[in-house]
Amino acid sequence: MMRKLWPHARPYGKWIAAGVICSALEAVFELLIPLVMSDIVDIGIKNGDQSYILQMGGLMVAMAMVSLAFGLGAAVFSSVAGQGFGANLRRAEYDRIQEFAFSNIEKFSTASLVTRLTNDVNAMQMTLMMGMRLLVRAPVMLVSALVLSIRISYQLSSVFLVAMPLLLVAVLAILTRVGPLFRSLQEKTDALNLVVQENLAGIRVVKSFVREEHEKQKFEKRNHDLRDTSLKAFGTVVVNMPIMMLIVYGTIIAVMWFGGRMVFAGTLEAGKLMTYFTYITQIMMSLMMVSMIFMMLSRSVACARRIVEVLDEQPAITDGAAVTDVNSQGVRTPAAVRDGSIDFDHVSFKYNAESPEWILQDISLHIPSGATVGILGGTGSAKTTLVSLIPRLYEADHGTVSVGGRPVREYTMEHLRDAVSVVLQKNTLFSGTIRENLLWGDPNATEEELWSACRAACADEFLKRMPDGLDTDLGQGGVNVSGGQKQRLCIARAILKKPRVLILDDSTSAVDTATDARIRRAFAAELKDATKLIIAQRVASVCEADMILVMDGGRIAARGTHRELMETCEIYRDVYRSQQEGVSIGG
Ligand SMILES: Nc1ncnc2c1ncn2[C@@H]1O[C@H](COP(=O)(O)OP(=O)(O)O)[C@@H](O)[C@H]1O
Ligand SMILES: [Mg+2]
Repeated sequence: MMRKLWPHARPYGKWIAAGVICSALEAVFELLIPLVMSDIVDIGIKNGDQSYILQMGGLMVAMAMVSLAFGLGAAVFSSVAGQGFGANLRRAEYDRIQEFAFSNIEKFSTASLVTRLTNDVNAMQMTLMMGMRLLVRAPVMLVSALVLSIRISYQLSSVFLVAMPLLLVAVLAILTRVGPLFRSLQEKTDALNLVVQENLAGIRVVKSFVREEHEKQKFEKRNHDLRDTSLKAFGTVVVNMPIMMLIVYGTIIAVMWFGGRMVFAGTLEAGKLMTYFTYITQIMMSLMMVSMIFMMLSRSVACARRIVEVLDEQPAITDGAAVTDVNSQGVRTPAAVRDGSIDFDHVSFKYNAESPEWILQDISLHIPSGATVGILGGTGSAKTTLVSLIPRLYEADHGTVSVGGRPVREYTMEHLRDAVSVVLQKNTLFSGTIRENLLWGDPNATEEELWSACRAACADEFLKRMPDGLDTDLGQGGVNVSGGQKQRLCIARAILKKPRVLILDDSTSAVDTATDARIRRAFAAELKDATKLIIAQRVASVCEADMILVMDGGRIAARGTHRELMETCEIYRDVYRSQQEGVSIGG
């Protein structure tokens, strides 16, 4: 795991080294101070030599200042290294997530990815920052204080033989308990973030169904869960403190007892005993630090593992199988999508490899380039799934999906998705102006091209009424436009790509019937060569199509023109009649 994370810290190697050196020097100077003090007592005070006392006192102050300066240096260097490491980790994770296919993201859940990118990285950078200082300071202090105190009196130092094993056992006992608790702590954080994220993303639905109370309770439950786990984890950690203190004070009392008797017996000087106490405190403090480091490490191991999981995740869909074409000049270029023909050859698909049921089952289909295809079917009949395979948002498990006569995986994602434009059922606009959003389709589009796309999508009428026109600010996720307006902007954005295949997944559901018809007419005129796949609820939206597919339970139940289906397909006739009635009743 260290091997995976180290490359992200390496650019800060110099800072880490500087921090480590400063921490070590800080500790050394702190250790030298008691030695000077011992001389003041045993030489200066004993001989009543005032100038010696002043001199040594001055030395002590100077050493304290130097130690302070190194301490400051260590703090600065470790902060720079820690923050830089954190930033690098976040960027690496984010880059990796951008490569993920939908199936990768679904595996982690969005909320967990957010936690792994923020919370977990924070823990890691804290560990590096604190670890750099403590990990150096504690051993340096421990070893040197131990050596110095043994030099003062090896007899007294035998108390460590009792104290140290006790401490070790206590720390180990606590560590084995908190490890799993910390792991579960991160999972509870994921769970909490999931609720918050879902709630905020769907706040309009929550409000319109008056589900605030229910959402609050859901949040409360996760919140309590997180609190309880935190309490348990940190509660276990703090038990560390009293146990340590008990052992520290026990040791001090033992040293006082034995040391005092040695002073009375004349085998130890009083100043030496004083210095000895300072070292004991330092030894015990560093032991506490070491145990704190271990606590911290056991938390960051949990976090590091989660970060490495993201970094190690292999994107499910890659350009690995993309082929190159040789053009007339003999230059190799990535295969381009020649035309808009679409072929499904015995395609089966399921989202979850473990689930026994296929979502799409043995679909075979040929759509000639430039055709208009309507797709009807009840919710859950896998209409969306069917079209998702064309721009390779998901990968077929069996069979091949081809566009322009070539299997989709032989194109680079960039080329394929440039040629296949999808207006998804759940569509998103991003914060920024309408113009910025439309330019996603074609960054170099001229003003005229923008307006022509808007005309084709029937978005021009409401855009003209907006005070700032194309430069109207959309607000977060496009909250400033109505559902139907949003759909039309998404269609315009898709048209701007000048795609070979245009897929509309129920994209005019929030648009009135008349506008819907006008959009379809505009398509026929402006996107003559593009293959158009239109998923719709209304038969009226697809009845003029060259071919209509009726989906049912992951299969194509019937296919043909409106006229053919009216004659042969009972489901189609029923749907058509029910919708006709709706129209006549509605007036
Ligand atoms: N991301 C997903 N993960 C797992 N199952 C899914 C996912 N999306 C859709 N499904 C399942 O696939 C089936 C078909 O869904 P979908 O293609 O969206 O149907 P439609 O668009 O016709 O309403 C449904 O049973 C649905 O539960
Ligand atoms: Mg759908």
